[in-house]
Amino acid sequence: MTLVRQIRNMNIIQSAATHRSGPGVQQKLFYPAADRNKEPILSVLRQYICSGPNQNLLEISSGTGQHVAHFAAYFPQVTFYPSEVDSRLLESISNYTKSFANVKPPFLIDISTDYSNWGDTVFEESNFDYIYNCNMVHISPFPCSIGLFKNTGKLLKKNGILFTYGPYMIDGKISPESNVSFNESLKTQNPEWGLRDVRDLEKLAHENGIYLMKIIDMPANNKTIIWRKE
Ligand SMILES: C[S@@+](CC[C@H](N)C(=O)[O-])C[C@H]1O[C@@H](n2cnc3c(N)ncnc32)[C@H](O)[C@@H]1O
Repeated sequence: MTLVRQIRNMNIIQSAATHRSGPGVQQKLFYPAADRNKEPILSVLRQYICSGPNQNLLEISSGTGQHVAHFAAYFPQVTFYPSEVDSRLLESISNYTKSFANVKPPFLIDISTDYSNWGDTVFEESNFDYIYNCNMVHISPFPCSIGLFKNTGKLLKKNGILFTYGPYMIDGKISPESNVSFNESLKTQNPEWGLRDVRDLEKLAHENGIYLMKIIDMPANNKTIIWRKE
C-alpha cells in the first residue's frame, strides 16, 4: 500500500486546535483525505443539487464533520443532517458546524439499522431530497451497504439522489494496481471490509427502488456514483 493510501484511509490527524488543551478549546479532528477530496466532491454536488428552497440532505458517516462544514456554506437552500455511528466523532462534527444555521446537530446513526430506530421524527418515509455517503462502503462490513440502500430507498423522495464516493470494483475487476493493494490492505485490517463491486451495489439499489444514474471519475482513482430514487 502506498503512503498516500495509508494516510488517505485511516489516519485521524488532529488539527492544531486539538493539540491545545484547556477551557474553551474546541476539538476539530482533521482527516487529510477529507480535506483533499472536498473540492472535487463539491464540484459534483453543484451539478446535482438544485437551487430551489427548502431542501434537505442526510449525511451518513460524517467522520470529522469537515465535509458537511465545507458543503453547507455553498448550499444555503439545503438543511444538512450530519450523522455518525462513532460517538467519539460527534463533538468534532458539532464544532465544525455549530456556526451554520443550515446544519442540524449530528445524529448517532448506525446505517445497518432501520431508520425507524434512529429516534427523530425527521427520519420518515420520502422526507429527504439527498443522501450523501463518502468513503464508507469499503471501510465497513457489507451489511452497512445493504442498510445504506435499504434506508435510502425509504427516506429519499421520488427522484431524490444518493451520492456515494470512494474506490470501487467494476464487473469483478479492480484497477489500477494501487486500488488492488488498497483492497488487500483493507481486508488485512478487517476481512469484512473491501472494495464493493458496483454491480452488487446496483442489485441492492434495484431491490430498493433506486437506479444508478451516473459514475463520475474523481481524482486518486475514486468515483462519485449518482443514484436516483425512482
Ligand atoms: C473512512 S471514514 C469516512 C468519514 C467521512 N465520510 C470522510 O469522508 O471523511 C469511514 C466512516 O464510516 C463510519 N461507519 C462505519 N460503520 C458505520 C455504520 N455502521 N454506520 C454509519 N457509519 C459507519 C465510520 O465511523 C467512519 O467515520
